[in-house]
Amino acid sequence: METLQVSLGERSYPILIGPGLLGEADVLADLITARQVLIVTNEVVAPLYLATLEQAIAADEQHAIVLPDGEDQKTLQTISTIIDALIEHGFHRDACLVALGGGVVGDIGGFAASCYQRGIDYVQVPTTLLAQVDSSVGGKTAVNHPRAKNMIGAFYQPTCVLTDTDTLKTLPPREFAAGLAEVIKHSLILDHGFFVWLEGHIDDLVAMDAAALGFVVRRNCELKAAIVAEDERERGRRALLNLGHTFGHALESLGGYDRWLHGEAVSIGIALAARTSARLGWLDEDDCSRIEALLRKAGLPVSAPNIEVDRLLERMSMDKKASAEGLRLVLLKQIGEGVIVPSPEESLLRDVIETQTMVQQDYIDGLSESCP
Ligand SMILES: NC(=O)c1ccc[n+]([C@@H]2O[C@H](COP(=O)([O-])OP(=O)(O)OC[C@H]3O[C@@H](n4cnc5c(N)ncnc54)[C@H](O)[C@@H]3O)[C@@H](O)[C@H]2O)c1
Repeated sequence: METLQVSLGERSYPILIGPGLLGEADVLADLITARQVLIVTNEVVAPLYLATLEQAIAADEQHAIVLPDGEDQKTLQTISTIIDALIEHGFHRDACLVALGGGVVGDIGGFAASCYQRGIDYVQVPTTLLAQVDSSVGGKTAVNHPRAKNMIGAFYQPTCVLTDTDTLKTLPPREFAAGLAEVIKHSLILDHGFFVWLEGHIDDLVAMDAAALGFVVRRNCELKAAIVAEDERERGRRALLNLGHTFGHALESLGGYDRWLHGEAVSIGIALAARTSARLGWLDEDDCSRIEALLRKAGLPVSAPNIEVDRLLERMSMDKKASAEGLRLVLLKQIGEGVIVPSPEESLLRDVIETQTMVQQDYIDGLSESCP
């Protein structure tokens, strides 16, 4: 087991990473000391891991809420359901909520914990790669508004993150690949050496080699913890973590949230951000090809066919990452160094999106021609 620290003064907390942690009663006894515990999970994760976790937690009083699966559960109605349960069971302010699941359950559980009696402790137990390398660390909690994603939420840090890497064994391959998009993103904005490592080990990762996975989860948590410690509430550098997200959120919302997984949309967004960076003279063709090759080897898309460019640009301007001064885009000065660019030229973005769509369509056509 490895332990990292997110350093935020009195809100500091540990991230524990290792195989089989979910069932380690001794470890959990030190982490969860509350007398009353509510586990929030969903219908996919519960049959796999809820019983193991329940048996390992030693609280006097334990309850579980099993939500339906899916992004459409990130609503105020779900928060209300959780708060109803906390009140019904007479939970006090010193109770603890445990979020067992992917980023959806983590975002919901964290926000419910932040609201109940002005804030109770919560523990993140992430079970998807995306949640283990990204969403469980940093204290961003939220639910969606019908008109925009993650619009209602709070910065609210967990008391610890318990990452059992064995849970990734049951993750569907498409969900695993979606998590790799955030891994590649972290390397691109912060760590050239890690990007090179990923190029050399992507096949091991896709094959879910335990040593490679353990290293990736730890390195990502280190990178994310450092940037969160520097800028907890995203007033500056933390915004670098949005590489690919402005394009990505717009694609997700155009696709009605069921066409692309979040990580897939981010992957396309990363490829577009790389091409935009090349137009500004920061990356060269070789850099863009390396980035796209890595994304593809991870099983991720680098272009969306039939993009309606006007609608995409309109959605991008509505992104909550846009400030009152306008759109801010994260681009790359070089591989391993992200940069925040205020007010990029719309004509430049339009050109990059149109060109990337055409180039990739040629690539797809070429593939189908070479297939018997
Ligand atoms: N808070 C943050 O900083 C932050 C950062 C990035 C993304 N997010 C949010 O995270 C969400 C996406 O998270 P996600 O990609 O983890 O999606 P998710 O939570 O929907 O999980 C993906 C799928 O995998 C299933 N699943 C979870 N663990 C499993 C396991 N071990 N085995 C088998 N199936 C499993 C889930 O039930 C679901 O069907 C989005 O809502 C996004 O907005 C938040």
